[in-house]
Amino acid sequence: MAEGTFPEEKLISSMFSGIWKSRCLSVLVSLGVPELLCNSVTPVSIQEIAERTGCHTGEKIYKVLRTMAQWGIGEELIEKHFKANRAMELLRRDKGQSLGHMVGYYASDEVWAAMLAFPQAVKDGGDTAFELAHAMNLYDYMYRAEELEYSPPTKSEDIASDMGTKQRRSEFAHNYDRAMSMLSQMELDSALPTLFTVYPWVKCERIMDIGGGEGQFLSQILKLPGCEHIKGVLFDFPDVVERTKLFLAKENVPDHRVTLLKGDILDGIPKCKEVDTIIVKNLFVIFTEDEMVKVLENCRQVLAAHGKFIIVNSCNPEARDTEHNVTKTGLHLGFRGIHIMAMSKMGHFRTKSEWLNLIDRLCKKVAFRLNAVYETGDGPTLFELLTCE
Ligand SMILES: C[S@@+](CC[C@H](N)C(=O)[O-])C[C@H]1O[C@@H](n2cnc3c(N)ncnc32)[C@H](O)[C@@H]1O
Repeated sequence: MAEGTFPEEKLISSMFSGIWKSRCLSVLVSLGVPELLCNSVTPVSIQEIAERTGCHTGEKIYKVLRTMAQWGIGEELIEKHFKANRAMELLRRDKGQSLGHMVGYYASDEVWAAMLAFPQAVKDGGDTAFELAHAMNLYDYMYRAEELEYSPPTKSEDIASDMGTKQRRSEFAHNYDRAMSMLSQMELDSALPTLFTVYPWVKCERIMDIGGGEGQFLSQILKLPGCEHIKGVLFDFPDVVERTKLFLAKENVPDHRVTLLKGDILDGIPKCKEVDTIIVKNLFVIFTEDEMVKVLENCRQVLAAHGKFIIVNSCNPEARDTEHNVTKTGLHLGFRGIHIMAMSKMGHFRTKSEWLNLIDRLCKKVAFRLNAVYETGDGPTLFELLTCE
């Protein structure tokens, strides 16, 4: 082979080895290695790691740990002793949401099984890979364990996976939830400080964040200098709003600054005081176009005249753009879209021009018009719509 730097070889190798890296991370996280190492004041021997993680021998777990340490996850010392480093710290799940929860979800057996069916899903173009593998959709798997029995088309009884059990389904839903919060956090981190400086938040009076989750975005806006006058309203499903309460308390956001509303946006918004701004961040990606129209119609009921409706969403790189695949915090945008496509029929990641086309179609159905587009570089794009008479 000719001398050189082999860029295409490196590219392809790094892509197919994702399968090994992802699974090794999954081994570390599911066995609780990050917590074990992070909570130990002294380096831990491989024998102790094997014993405390339930491995029958230290041999295979050692090879996983050694390799991971060579790649920067943890550190190997002499005589097969290991200690935590910052990467390992980021994987621990005993101190609130972390990258460990993202591994727990993205590199889980369930996602793994879905990816096994991915080539077929791409060919068929109908059911998602998750549906092909699990015979139910992602949300039913997570949230309807009591009603819907798990009966996948094929299951290897020999592989020790508790996939499909009620306990596992609820654990998976928890990981999913934590992973989504962490993802939001990473997305916010990628967009800092631009997301908060690019838009004149200071001119808003009363902002409603629909599908606002725990309130990470809204609480940051309320804390911006000059925004002390802003009142927030957060609308989400009842169980999510319970978590929002805890999050806002932890962030020291006083109760009088945020009203919490519970419900399903497709059913309408509970009676409340008019707002001048509505945000939907990462929400429209899970709706069909007809549902988006419904959301816009429902929002008009609570939006003041000349009110603003802001769609906040990351955009996939445009076709042929090879420069914007990875964000500052390492999110792989195109592949994230692939994951969503494999997991959920509704999930749909768009490029900026696809968003603009969509907004154009929506504005023809509900009386809004696109007023401005704000870019945050690495982070999400803000599409500002105004109500029309
Ligand atoms: C992908 S998360 C985005 C959360 C947050 N806006 C962010 O950017 O991090 C979607 C949020 O919308 C909420 N949601 C989804 N469908 C909804 C509906 N029909 N009505 C109200 N909230 C909904 C979910 O509970 C979740 O908190």
